Amino acid sequence: MNADKMFRLDGKIAVVTGAASGLGRAFALGLADQGALMICTDRNEEGADETASLAKQRQGKAEAARLDVGNEREQTDFWNDLAERHGRVDVLVNNAGISTGPQRLHELSIEDWDRLMAINLRGSFLCMRAAIPLMLAAGSGSIINISSIAGLTGYYPGFARLCVNYSASKAAIAGLTRQAAAEYGRDGIRINAIAPGWHGGTNLGAERRAQATPEMIRRSEEAIHARVPMGRRGVPDDLVGLVVYLAGDASSYVTGQVIAHDGGWMSS
Ligand SMILES: NC(=O)c1ccc[n+]([C@@H]2O[C@H](COP(=O)([O-])OP(=O)(O)OC[C@H]3O[C@@H](n4cnc5c(N)ncnc54)[C@H](O)[C@@H]3O)[C@@H](O)[C@H]2O)c1
Repeated sequence: MNADKMFRLDGKIAVVTGAASGLGRAFALGLADQGALMICTDRNEEGADETASLAKQRQGKAEAARLDVGNEREQTDFWNDLAERHGRVDVLVNNAGISTGPQRLHELSIEDWDRLMAINLRGSFLCMRAAIPLMLAAGSGSIINISSIAGLTGYYPGFARLCVNYSASKAAIAGLTRQAAAEYGRDGIRINAIAPGWHGGTNLGAERRAQATPEMIRRSEEAIHARVPMGRRGVPDDLVGLVVYLAGDASSYVTGQVIAHDGGWMSS
């Protein structure tokens, strides 16, 4: 195949969850730029609408839909509607996710454990459970789950920058990805995960930042910059090339991978 065409997604239908801001918005715009009909979903409907409008301003094809990934009824309604209107989904990016406050394990409430798992892990499972039958019927599909380097390694520079519920959910996303990739490889469905390192320009951690002291935030920023071999945080646009690669034919023999995107963090 012509190398230019490997990255094109013309005629594909792509769903991104959590597309109202941050990484999800960048993913949605990048996939629309490559020709996919982009279905931008989020529990924040206004933000999802805005992402779809931005994609259209760039000559992309896009729609917006409400989907709280933790809500089973919304999941059923969304996927039934998608099946009825489009009959297929070619690309699913399970991006919606949250983090909770800056607690250490013994301080973490059961409510915060459950609230986060319901979105970060169960939400991704529910989307895959609904999308895979459509992909099986088509005989192809690409699912991209969003893990984190927090799911691959621990990090504690003397204060609670991350919380175990977040790290555990992201490690579980890696397991979900590998097992599902093994189950569906023969069906033409590829399933990979991206494990981003520290990326700025998103709303992730707003809850944690609201509870942290300015001194904690300062120390945390310094510790991150000192540890990243490339010497900077990523920005959402840094991730677009990888998601486009995993979505389409350029990665046709790649499945079950958890790819760190972290300025070298995991290698140092
Ligand atoms: N920013 C980083 O450094 C970083 C690093 C590693 C992994 N991640 C992961 O990337 C993903 C995107 O995070 P981000 O940094 O862009 O943060 P963000 O807060 O800007 O974006 C998250 C989006 O998910 C949506 N969302 C939250 N709960 C939802 C739900 N129940 N249903 C549907 N949508 C919901 C939010 O409305 C928001 O639009 C998350 O899974 C996050 O864990 C981010």
